[in-house]
Amino acid sequence: HGTSRINEQGHLEIGGCDTVKLAEQFGTPLYMVDEAHIRNRMRQFVTAFQKTGLAFQVAYASKAFSTLAMNRIVEEEGLLLDVVSDGELYTALQAGFPPDRIYFHGNNKTLSELEMALEVGVGLFVVDNFTELSLLDRLATTRGSKARILLRTTPGVEAHTHDYIQTGQEDSKFGFDYLSGQVFQAAQLALSSSGLELLGFHCHIGSQIFETEGFSLAIGKMADLCKECQNSLGFQTKVLNVGGGFGIRYNDRDQPLPVAKYVEAIERGVRIGFHGMDIPEIWVEPGRSIVGEAGTTLYTVGTMKEVPGVRKYISVDGGMNDNPRPALYQANYEAMLANRGAEPVAETVSVAGKLCESGDMLIWDVSLPQVKNGDLLAVSCTGAYNYSMANNYNRVRRPAVVFLREGVADLIVRRESLADLLQNDQLPERLKRKEV
Ligand code: LLP
Repeated sequence: HGTSRINEQGHLEIGGCDTVKLAEQFGTPLYMVDEAHIRNRMRQFVTAFQKTGLAFQVAYASKAFSTLAMNRIVEEEGLLLDVVSDGELYTALQAGFPPDRIYFHGNNKTLSELEMALEVGVGLFVVDNFTELSLLDRLATTRGSKARILLRTTPGVEAHTHDYIQTGQEDSKFGFDYLSGQVFQAAQLALSSSGLELLGFHCHIGSQIFETEGFSLAIGKMADLCKECQNSLGFQTKVLNVGGGFGIRYNDRDQPLPVAKYVEAIERGVRIGFHGMDIPEIWVEPGRSIVGEAGTTLYTVGTMKEVPGVRKYISVDGGMNDNPRPALYQANYEAMLANRGAEPVAETVSVAGKLCESGDMLIWDVSLPQVKNGDLLAVSCTGAYNYSMANNYNRVRRPAVVFLREGVADLIVRRESLADLLQNDQLPERLKRKEV
């Protein structure tokens, strides 16, 4: 992917950096991120939208990967930022991200999160339900301000990665129900609320989507909603956010479309759906498709075990704590030996993590050269929902993250230390060990 290649020593090189040297310098496991790849993906979205002639905004869904350095790149590339917690908001603010270019998502934003967001001047809230609608109205009115909002709805189009089910009622925890008229009712309420300024609507039909059909279906329904609001409420939709979910290629079986194709399909859907009406500003909020393919995790191979006639396990120095996706979603990953990238395939092995669970398997079958203790295993496409979902199960420390660009490796998250693990532990006086 991107700027990676096998160099003259047969080593995997990413962003001009030899990954064998990175292992020596930073240790393993190591999340390696190709910065140029991220910027390219962002520019692909922006360029594709520019070609449509539509008014648009591209936002980055920071749940996929949120750090100070990542937020700087999002700002430099001119994208909006989608946050879903005070933690993601805090990270963005600490990175100097302009609050008016941030918007807040989530089905249960807490009182303190809403207050914090109002206080710092977050640009917009994607309101999810009636409880939040009235709470936000009250908080903004008390402050003498108006909160700009979109209403999230579930248009009854659900992507199950390869196909779509259209359900009348989408049984989801997110958003105002579409079919029963809840979202229309919410719009009516918002328009009469002194603390709210309704800008438009939001929907998100799923993640890791390979086709355009679901977006077209959803946009059609959203256009109907906008039409209804215009005719019955005199409300002109200014913003229509159609969510994220654009697929990436984790392995050869995945056939995502180029970014431009998704954008063209969105444009088609919009031009058909809003025929004869004013077209609102169109927003998208991709996460995975911005950072997923840019990330590679580097591990050191430790022990090996052969179950005769069944399989060979190779264990690496990380696992479900740095990449919970195989265990959670049966996600499939590909890997190569970073220190022997040019050698031919010799065996099929299963890659196990080091955590104390049988389910801690990173890859069930991968073909590699004859694997030896000390080899470096590079697992690709780990940029999205890996670091952001990493945890300390088994008190395993989270890896460092490096950004790689033009031969320079910048440490952007340092490796956790053993002391970090005890940072929040408290020992009550009565449990302290008595000196004898
Ligand atoms: N917008 C909304 C409202 C979302 O809920 C999501 C993802 C996105 C945008 C970004 O979707 P993306 O472009 O990244 O597909 N942890 C799971 C993915 C959870 C996605 C949650 N929502 C995984 O590792 O596959």
